Amino acid sequence: MRTAKLLIASVLAFGLGIAAASAAETPKVPTQKWAHTGFFGTFDRAELQRGYQVYKEVCAACHAMHQIRFRNLAGIGLSEAEIAALAKEYEVTDGPNDEGEMFQRPARPADRFKSPFPNQQAARAANGGAYPPDLSLIAKNRVGGENYIYALLTGYKETPPAGVTVMEGMHYNEWFPGHQIGMAPPLSADRVTYADGTKATLEQHAHDVSVFLAWASSPHLEARNSLGLKVMLFLFILAGLLYATKRKVWRNIKH
Ligand code: HEC
Repeated sequence: MRTAKLLIASVLAFGLGIAAASAAETPKVPTQKWAHTGFFGTFDRAELQRGYQVYKEVCAACHAMHQIRFRNLAGIGLSEAEIAALAKEYEVTDGPNDEGEMFQRPARPADRFKSPFPNQQAARAANGGAYPPDLSLIAKNRVGGENYIYALLTGYKETPPAGVTVMEGMHYNEWFPGHQIGMAPPLSADRVTYADGTKATLEQHAHDVSVFLAWASSPHLEARNSLGLKVMLFLFILAGLLYATKRKVWRNIKH
């Protein structure tokens, strides 16, 4: 009996350990409801595709996602043909060719989400001195992850609290450290017309793009979660088998 209890206890402790580990990352920003968080979480394909649409039509005007290649969009449910067609919408610089010159060509599925600016100085110059960071790993690199991104995108205030002066070219944001951010509010209702007809509120835009950025930061989350599930299942079955074996072995032994 003790073996079985011990096993069940360790299985539970293992599960709780995982829950505690993710709770430790809980930010001070409000926690939203996500389909992909929690032990059995999977990304919602429709949200991911809408989130990509928001990134493509809004955020990509300033932010690169250098770790992501067009072909990675298979992970959000796009077909090979859709990916090839998407890539073709972009021009990239390649080369040098045999004459030693760089040349422009249509992007291919293996190309990355490039910065719209030729270099950091140009990016800063276009943004009042602030640098729009690469968004590939932003959900991992900011405390609060997707909850922070959602809070940031919905946290702009037109009038700052009494006594706070917002510097020239800056915007008041409740959740940005220091509250003054060089990024103007990028989203508002109907900023994007969703291909799937979803109502395009500010909150919906912010939710969808946060899911997309969370996916970009952890493309293997689903594989990890399903492995975790299999491991748990295995442990439970093993615990049951050990318990049954123990009962059988001890059946005829009198205390
Ligand atoms: C017009 C250019 C522009 C657009 C469009 C834009 N951003 Fe930004 N973004 C910036 C700049 C500039 C900064 C740096 C701000 C600073 O450091 O003060 C920034 C910073 C950020 C940060 C980092 C905040 C931090 O904690 O450091 C995130 C996250 C972000 N943007 C997400 C987005 C998302 C998501 C979109 C699309 C919905 C978007 N941005 C659209 C210019 C832009």
